[in-house]
Amino acid sequence: MNRIFQRCFKAVAVVAFLMLVSPQLSFGQDGEALFKANCSSCHKPDVKYVGPPLKGAREREPEKGWVYKWVHNATAMAMTDPYASKLREEAGGVVMTSFPDLTNAQIDAILNWADSFQPAGAAKPGAGGATVAPQSNHTVLYGMLTLVLAIIAFVLLQVNSNLKKLADEHDNIPGKQPVPFYRNKAYLLVLLIGLFLLAGYFLVDGAMGLGRQQGYQPVQPIYYSHFVHAGVNQISCLYCHGDAQNSRHANIPSVNTCMNCHMAVKEYTGEPLKRADGSIVDANAEIQKLYNYAGWNPDTKTYDRPGKPIQWVKIHNLPSHVYFNHSQHVKVGQVACQTCHGEIQKMNEVKQFAPLSMGWCINCHRTTNVQFNDDKGNGNQFYSLYEKFHEDIKEHKYDSVTVEKIGGTECGKCHY
Ligand code: HEC
Ligand code: HEC
Ligand code: HEC
Ligand code: HEC
Ligand code: HEC
Ligand code: HEC
Repeated sequence: MNRIFQRCFKAVAVVAFLMLVSPQLSFGQDGEALFKANCSSCHKPDVKYVGPPLKGAREREPEKGWVYKWVHNATAMAMTDPYASKLREEAGGVVMTSFPDLTNAQIDAILNWADSFQPAGAAKPGAGGATVAPQSNHTVLYGMLTLVLAIIAFVLLQVNSNLKKLADEHDNIPGKQPVPFYRNKAYLLVLLIGLFLLAGYFLVDGAMGLGRQQGYQPVQPIYYSHFVHAGVNQISCLYCHGDAQNSRHANIPSVNTCMNCHMAVKEYTGEPLKRADGSIVDANAEIQKLYNYAGWNPDTKTYDRPGKPIQWVKIHNLPSHVYFNHSQHVKVGQVACQTCHGEIQKMNEVKQFAPLSMGWCINCHRTTNVQFNDDKGNGNQFYSLYEKFHEDIKEHKYDSVTVEKIGGTECGKCHY
């Protein structure tokens, strides 16, 4: 009996060990390192960059093995192969560098890595911006491990009960009526509790995380640096986001606003700029991208082709059941942009600074004073309604009024 158990546990240990090491075993080549060394200046795994995203490249290839030929000699392929020339057209005529020295296994390793790439902390589009936690890979691994261990435990229990039955028969003890496992109350209870916990966990986690994406920093269609514009060149936030002062939403400037300056500013002469992943930006190529969107020809100084709007990725997203108004805060409340957005003028790529959670809004409303209009007519002209507060302040009953006191924590103020 003891021996059987020992063997079973050894088997479990071996299975668990194999599960832990197998992901490392199956990739002899380090796809990520190869990618960073050879391809990352032009490709991203999941989004378009100079070249197309590498994720799923092998599903798109016209015939099996096409990618090997392509990576080994892109120049020749772009001349002769119809799919390759189509790609080159889509990339605006840029031809990829050839890598004759990469082996097929190395190319596969790169593409395997790209296929399994998950952006850390990025948002699932369309899912209310719910975030994929960076640690979810581990969660899945542990989940699978738990499942496997549970199945093994179950099998062992079955083996145990069968052995017991055999032993009982051997000793001529009359056995009880056997209960099939799916009618066994103990198993059913464990299963039920398990399901309950799992459902509860996902419900709470999903609801809490709905729309939350602090730290979100997507790659934008043009590498546009706030540090260069609002920091080094001191352009006012309101030059580009003027609507923040008088309407609900701060606008994102149109291509025309950019062209006001960039008809003249053709080159970037400042310090070299780096992306979040450390790669160097070709800033003049980024300005060229702007010209492509605008349809501007810097040589002839004319708009010689139709322009198209830049599809900036929206970073800050409140759920649709929340009402937030910029002018209420920027103009009336005189809250600085940086209080809510962080030091944008020091960021190259914008990153969401605040959690945009309900607690974040409410805490500020509890602690921030309303800016009543002073004698010079500055501050809040809207709240003549609140004459009472003015009178009380004049009579020195109190010297400030928080947003909470004017109703800033009432549900209806922020929720439809
Ligand atoms: C100098 C920039 C550059 C580098 C470096 C580069 N690529 Fe490309 N790649 C491109 C461009 C641009 C295209 C689009 C086709 C064209 O215009 O030639 C492309 C296309 C591809 C495609 C076809 C994608 C599809 O949608 O079918 C694959 C696969 C590919 N590259 C793999 C790689 C791999 C692997 C590396 C690294 C070993 C690499 N590339 C390095 C620029 C580059
Ligand atoms: C020259 C124009 C320009 C200036 C000046 C400028 N911005 Fe922007 N801003 C943009 C563009 C274009 C985007 C969209 C691309 C991006 O997110 O980087 C943007 C995006 C943003 C976003 C993120 C919007 C979203 O998607 O949620 C915030 C917040 C922001 N700007 C705040 C500021 C603040 C604060 C200042 C002043 C310190 C400022 N901006 C100055 C052009 C400008
Ligand atoms: C009290 C906090 C707060 C202040 C102050 C603030 N913002 Fe925002 N900003 C937000 C929130 C919250 C959002 C998300 C709004 C949404 O999803 O509807 C946002 C979104 C944005 C966006 C994206 C477009 C939009 O309206 O959804 C831009 C651009 C922006 N802010 C720029 C600015 C600038 C420029 C200033 C200063 C003039 C500023 N913000 C001041 C909280 C603030
Ligand atoms: C008020 C003038 C002004 C406006 C408006 C403006 N820029 Fe710029 N831009 C500049 C200046 C100045 C530089 C830096 C030139 C230098 O340092 O040599 C620059 C640099 C750049 C660069 C290279 C550095 C970087 O950030 O990557 C890009 C790309 C760029 N601008 C894109 C844009 C886009 C897109 C818009 C519209 C959303 C825009 N600019 C609006 C003045 C402006
Ligand atoms: C940094 C501080 C700060 C943060 C963060 C903040 N607010 Fe406010 N909020 C204010 C101030 C100050 C006022 C008062 C403006 C005034 O004088 O009427 C205000 C006013 C309001 C009002 C009008 C209240 C009334 O009684 O008329 C609403 C609605 C509101 N905020 C919604 C939000 C929402 C939604 C969020 C979060 C997404 C938020 N605020 C985050 C500072 C903040
Ligand atoms: C100052 C603005 C503000 C006030 C006042 C406010 N809320 Fe919220 N509420 C928010 C914001 C912002 C969110 C979105 C938070 C998120 O996405 O995590 C939210 C989310 C929620 C949610 C969705 C659950 C969640 O965490 O996403 C519920 C339910 C809710 N609020 C109920 C209330 C109730 C009830 C009151 C009154 C006691 C209230 N709220 C008052 C700003 C406010």
